[in-house]
Amino acid sequence: MSFEVAVNRLANARSLAIITGAGISAESGIPTFRGKDGLWRNYRAEDLATPEAFERSPKTVWEWYEMRREICAKAKPNEAHLSIADMENHFDDFLLITQNVDGLHTRAGSKKVLEIHGNIWKARCMKCKNVFEVKDVPLKENPVKCQCGSIARPHIVWFGEKYEPGILEKAIDFLSKTDFLIVVGTSGMVTTPIYLAQTADEAGAYIVDVNIEPSLITGLADFFLQGKAGSALPHLWNKSKEIRK
Ligand code: OAD
Ligand code: ZN
Repeated sequence: MSFEVAVNRLANARSLAIITGAGISAESGIPTFRGKDGLWRNYRAEDLATPEAFERSPKTVWEWYEMRREICAKAKPNEAHLSIADMENHFDDFLLITQNVDGLHTRAGSKKVLEIHGNIWKARCMKCKNVFEVKDVPLKENPVKCQCGSIARPHIVWFGEKYEPGILEKAIDFLSKTDFLIVVGTSGMVTTPIYLAQTADEAGAYIVDVNIEPSLITGLADFFLQGKAGSALPHLWNKSKEIRK
């Protein structure tokens, strides 16, 4: 299948779904999880983003997030985030599903977005479960505390944890009706996007995978758009937009 077919299908699509992973923010300067800069003090994400790691050392886990929060605070949305925010204005049926916690999609202007892994600027009390914003970089105190005095954790879905009730159902509901899906910058090592893309595939959606290298999604895709998200995605969208009625 060629690029032109993908352009035409997108131009004529009625409903558009997008799934994004860490690769879309790489050009904004945020390291991916499984790339060469994915390690921190020799820890892998899988060693830090778990309830067990937090139980062992809340301070270490918060330090890792503090480092990542600093990077996110300095980062700006790139052309790929901006293209997605623009797409939303051209489709009545639109949903963006992101695994990213960096908040760059909303900063780019996206509104119909499900942050399925949470948000790095929010914390949740371990005791009263209160969810609140923590914007300080660096942190005022580590570990972060809730108003009630108890320790709080990052409001993020960690390995081995359940998703927020209802959130995947919303994604699946949309994907089982959509006719076009673009997956951007995800490895599929966390398998949720594969499952979500399968749902769209079974519903007959046309699927484009945008990545610098083949991912675990590529096999499901009708078209593999190989390249950097910040240039490949705007290229696809601008061509489609020209012919979209
Ligand atoms: P990964 O780090 O596993 O994968 C990033 C993907 O982006 C890879 O397939 C890269 O080839 C691709 N990539 C890198 N630079 C790119 C660019 N400029 N343009 C396009 N693609 C590029 O990240 P995710 O798949 O998002 O979970 O990881 C999934 C989850 O695992 C994350 O949400 C995180 C992590 O543990 C939590 O934080 C809960
Ligand atoms: Zn509390």
